[in-house]
Amino acid sequence: MTTDTRVLIFDTTLRDGEQSPGATMSHDEKLEIAGLLDEMGVDIIEAGFPIASEGDFNAVREIAKNSVNSTICGLARANFKDIDRAWDAVKHAKSPRIHTFIGTSPQHRAIPNLTMDEMADKIHETVTHARNLCDNVQWSPMDATRTEWDYLARTVEIAIKAGATTINIPDTCGYTAPVESADLIRRLIDEVPGADEIIFATHCHNDLGMATANSLAAVAGGARQIECTINGLGERAGNTALEEVVMAMKVRHDIMPYTTGIDTRKIMHLSRRVATVSGFNVQPNKAIVGKNAFAHESGIHQDGMLKSADTFEIMRPEDVGLSETNIVMGKHSGRAALRSKLKDLGYELADNQLNDLFVRFKALADRKKEVFDDDLIALVTDAGSDG
Ligand code: KIV
Ligand code: ZN
Repeated sequence: MTTDTRVLIFDTTLRDGEQSPGATMSHDEKLEIAGLLDEMGVDIIEAGFPIASEGDFNAVREIAKNSVNSTICGLARANFKDIDRAWDAVKHAKSPRIHTFIGTSPQHRAIPNLTMDEMADKIHETVTHARNLCDNVQWSPMDATRTEWDYLARTVEIAIKAGATTINIPDTCGYTAPVESADLIRRLIDEVPGADEIIFATHCHNDLGMATANSLAAVAGGARQIECTINGLGERAGNTALEEVVMAMKVRHDIMPYTTGIDTRKIMHLSRRVATVSGFNVQPNKAIVGKNAFAHESGIHQDGMLKSADTFEIMRPEDVGLSETNIVMGKHSGRAALRSKLKDLGYELADNQLNDLFVRFKALADRKKEVFDDDLIALVTDAGSDG
């Protein structure tokens, strides 16, 4: 088991994320997002699936040409044509990678109609071919978590022997659970010959809402690359959210002592840009990047936050690129929050004036979901003109 605590972040927003029905991005938008991911410190950007279309090929090639620090990866199925096309697109990068995959589970083996032995040969041939083109090759047994153990171990060994430098273990259907996710990686590292020479990656989908937990468990089992997307964008229920795994390892470093190269202060901007260009809005209560992730409305919470931010916040808004905590004024807000909000707006009221205004504020808050700054100013101004 490795003692290295650095976890590589592999972002697939532009490939698996873009596969979400309706999330298609334009060429320029893809270039912009890739530039932001590179700047944020993503180690590997999976920029697309070059054989899929002329547009995808061109986007991957441009991203590769413009890359600064990130490795640029292109996806390919297990055939020479896909692999050659992926290589033609990524070869312009300072650091290119080919990622080739085949479905190894019984459900996925049925599709190409190959016997297990025929598939094993194909893995050997295609990984060897990719490795002859590029010295950075990732191989994935798609639907690994529903693949029989013996066959998974056998195919992983073949891919390593053929030259794969990263083995990714996808939970394609979001089927695994944290204990199993950790055990599977640990067992592969312990039992497959050559496994200690390469990097294991985890690639989780969120069908049961466990993608983040499964990814972090895989890291505990020895994986040193997490595959993820901004905002958890991805097919069906999405992929592991980059912001969640990165912030979890930062905030709970005491129990997950791993590091990444991500500048977390860039998270919020990227989240908003990806939401805008993909057209997939972020749910308000989404961890880390939701509109309410750093917002407080209840009186008890606001009171606590005004005394000390760590009463109800386990991370600082600045650490994810937000300027401050959002104190939302609504029917659950108390006097202390009202006083503080008014002070921010430039009004210092005597106790009796505040009590009076508080009654009118509550009446308004009962009618409105959220009381905005302008509403509060109107209340103060009206109170002044009344008396
Ligand atoms: O979920 C999956 O199995 C994939 C592979 C192509 C790695 O996205
Ligand atoms: Zn996937």
